[in-house]
Amino acid sequence: MKQFAKWWKQAVDSKIDEVNAMTLSTASSDGMPAARIVLLKGVDDKGFTFFTNYNSYKGQQLAENPKACLVFFWKELERQVRITGLVEKVDPKDSDEYFHSRPEGSQIGAVASPQSQVIESREWLDDNYKQLKKDLKKKTIQRPENWGGYILKPVIIEFWQGRPSRLHDRLQYTLENNGNWKIERLAP
Ligand SMILES: Cc1cc2nc3c(=O)[nH]c(=O)nc-3n(C[C@H](O)[C@H](O)[C@H](O)COP(=O)(O)O)c2cc1C
Repeated sequence: MKQFAKWWKQAVDSKIDEVNAMTLSTASSDGMPAARIVLLKGVDDKGFTFFTNYNSYKGQQLAENPKACLVFFWKELERQVRITGLVEKVDPKDSDEYFHSRPEGSQIGAVASPQSQVIESREWLDDNYKQLKKDLKKKTIQRPENWGGYILKPVIIEFWQGRPSRLHDRLQYTLENNGNWKIERLAP
């Protein structure tokens, strides 16, 4: 996590666009994978936090199989970080706090959109949003129970650094049972 913090700071300082955008891969219990971009909203010694709709496709896959993989690609630094780990929902209080820190439009949007469900039309979505905006006028918007954070607790982290002649550096950190991280170099 110290190594991640170092690279994270360098990426943030490099003013990379959407530095916190990461690919999140999940899989159903039958092994069918899916990946999509989400935003990293917190990182500390415990893990990597992102927010989403718990009833979404990713939410369904994580309920069946609470393991996932995150990938960052920081082109400007020729760096990739792959993080594999176990996923849990964050404390509802942390989801409340983050939900209420978002702009009102995003809060209403989260309530209005049944993420990953089939909907009949764009109009349906816009009408739902407008109606909710009217209903919720001047009221505190409650975080829907099906919207919140997940924390991915890492078990393997690979740091990839582009180098000339395709002889890239790949350093893989694996968490051992005793809590130590084993560090190995992988061939590029
Ligand atoms: C730059 C970018 C950032 C995104 N951030 C999030 C996010 O933080 N949370 C989220 O639920 N979806 C986010 N999305 C949308 C997801 O990629 C995805 O479409 C959505 O979560 C539904 O995925 P699912 O059907 O696999 O569950 C983002 C998309 C992009 C392109």
